[in-house]
Amino acid sequence: MPARHFLSLLDFSSDELRALIAHAIDVKRKLKQGIAHTPLTGKLLAMIFEKSSTRTRVSFEAGMYQLGGHAMFMSPRDSHLGRGEPIEDSARVISSMVDGILIRTFGHERIQLLAKNSQVPVINGLSDLLHPCQLLADMQTWFEQRGDIAGASVAWIGDGNNMCHSYINAAIRFDFRLNIACPAGHEPDAGLLETGGDRIHLCANADDAATDADLVVTDVWASMGQEQEQEQRLKTFATYQVNRQVMARANADALFMHCLPAHRGEEVTAEVLDSAQSVIWQEAENRLHVQKALLEILLGPAT
Ligand code: CP
Ligand code: NVA
Repeated sequence: MPARHFLSLLDFSSDELRALIAHAIDVKRKLKQGIAHTPLTGKLLAMIFEKSSTRTRVSFEAGMYQLGGHAMFMSPRDSHLGRGEPIEDSARVISSMVDGILIRTFGHERIQLLAKNSQVPVINGLSDLLHPCQLLADMQTWFEQRGDIAGASVAWIGDGNNMCHSYINAAIRFDFRLNIACPAGHEPDAGLLETGGDRIHLCANADDAATDADLVVTDVWASMGQEQEQEQRLKTFATYQVNRQVMARANADALFMHCLPAHRGEEVTAEVLDSAQSVIWQEAENRLHVQKALLEILLGPAT
């Protein structure tokens, strides 16, 4: 049987994603109560990072350890991935020795090629197109704070980037309304937008997107790989900052999320990022719990 991969939220059904979040909440409870949970004893996860990471690396490595398994960090600098060995060949070799592969890279096609040639599950730890693991953590955080997100109104303000794309997929699977405000030329991928149907609304500015929102989300203006555009982007995105005025448009009990790392004073003010409405630390911690639930499903014994 071919391995099951997690390259996009759309690889799981709505029911599967809700069950995954429920399991993540239970896995978190067990950890907090000191109850050992080691269904992945003896399992090994290879982690390929072709871009930087703090949260993704620490959460997957800690998660594998807590589940009884082990994680192996690989970078292009000290493997043949950085010396031109085709990803297809790397996939065949690595997947013959481990139980799962996590990859963070640039082009999404690279992850798809890896998955196509891997005999073990592949997890997308971020590509230029998508960041599905972060959405699992964001959704767990929402479910813990507010219950099911179906029918809620979410505002995405800033760049139409990998996080925005994964929010579109989340709107599809969890059935919420998504108001997106991006500067001209930085809108999300048109094809992806279309798949979201009438749940997704492109707004003229940040205030419009935030109006009556239950959740306001943003991300850096220049993603990894766009460092040379940083100066220009600071100007282009200047009116897309999430600040007190923008949050005032949202519902009084609206939450604020950011996948981190954040640039205080750019895409979000320190006042909002560090406010009582902000759940950024819960989001970051939930990377650990929800990815443990994901690893258990993909790498664990068949149920
Ligand atoms: N949010 C996130 O993926 O963080 P890292 O880049 O630190 O992994
Ligand atoms: N959009 C950001 C997310 C970082 C977690 C990036 O791709 O750099």
